[in-house]
Amino acid sequence: MHFSAATATASLFTFFSLASAGAVPAYPGYKVIWSDEFTGEAGAPPSYSKWNYALNTDTNNELQAYTTSNQNVQLSGGSTVQFVPRKDATGKWSSGRLESQATFTPSANRTTLVEASIRFGDLATSQKKGLWPAFWMLGDAIHHGTSWPACGELDIMETINGLLTGYGTAHCGGGANGEAVGGPCNEPMGVPHTVLLPDYGWHTWSLSIDRTNAGGDWRAEKISWLLDGKVYGTLMGSDINDEGVWATLARSPLFIILNLAVGGDWPGQPDANTADGYGNMMEVEYVAVLEA
Ligand SMILES: *[C@@H]1O[C@H](CO)[C@@H](O)[C@H](O)[C@H]1NC(C)=O
Repeated sequence: MHFSAATATASLFTFFSLASAGAVPAYPGYKVIWSDEFTGEAGAPPSYSKWNYALNTDTNNELQAYTTSNQNVQLSGGSTVQFVPRKDATGKWSSGRLESQATFTPSANRTTLVEASIRFGDLATSQKKGLWPAFWMLGDAIHHGTSWPACGELDIMETINGLLTGYGTAHCGGGANGEAVGGPCNEPMGVPHTVLLPDYGWHTWSLSIDRTNAGGDWRAEKISWLLDGKVYGTLMGSDINDEGVWATLARSPLFIILNLAVGGDWPGQPDANTADGYGNMMEVEYVAVLEA
C-alpha cells in the first residue's frame, strides 16, 4: 500500500496508544496503514488533516445540500463520527460527506483491507424512505481528468430506504468514449453484490483487494466484499477481462468516502414520514486501511 498523506505516522501512534471504544481490530498478519478512530470532543469536526468536506458533488439528482456544519457531521465524543440528515422549516435537506485526503494504492503481492464499523439510527424503516448512507472509494483519477466510471469505483457499503440489504458494487470502464454505458462493469448498473443486514446496529464492512497471486497475473487478483468478516461477493481480474480497466480498481490510487445522501435516482425521494436527526444518522466507529 502506497499512501500520500503526511499524517500516517501520527495515526499509527494513535492506534497503539489508545484503547478507546471502536478501535481498529488487530488482525493477525495485518498492519494498519491509515486509520481514524474519531476521538475528540462531542460536536467537534473530524480531523482536518485526514478528511475533506465534499460539498458540491451531486451526480445522482440527490436532494441534500452537503455542509460543514456540525449539525450534519460531528464527532460524538465517544470515539465515533456521526452523519446526520437534517430537514429545515422549508423542507430542504442537508447532510454530510467526507473524503479522505490520502489515497491508497493496493500493493503488488499483498492484500489490502479497507474497513469501517458502521451503524444506523434506530428509527423504523418506514421513516427512512429516501436515505442513502454509503462507505465507498473512488479512483483518484477523477481528480485528474478521468470521468466516471472510467476512474473506477468500489462501493463497500450502501443501503437505501432503510432496507436490510447491503450492497457492495464495482463501477468501471464504460463505453468506448467514456460514456457510463456498458463495458466490463455493465454500466450504469455496475457489478453489484448483496448481503442481508441483520439490523441497524454495529457491523463491520470490509473490502479486500488481494494481489498475492503468484507471478503477478492480474487475472488472478481478487476483490472481495465482507460483512462482519464473511465474504459475500468477489470479483476477479478475469471477470473484468481487461487489464487496463482492472488496474483502475485494484492497482491505482483510490480515496475513501463516507456520506449520507438524501433522495436521488436510486432510493427515490423521501416521503412525509422520512425523519431527520440522530434516529436516521450513519455513525462510524473507525475507518482503517490495513495491509498483509
Ligand atoms: C511480486 O511477485 C512477483 C512474482 O513472485 C515478483 O516478480 C515481483 O517482483 C513482486 N513485486 C513486488 C513489488 O514485490
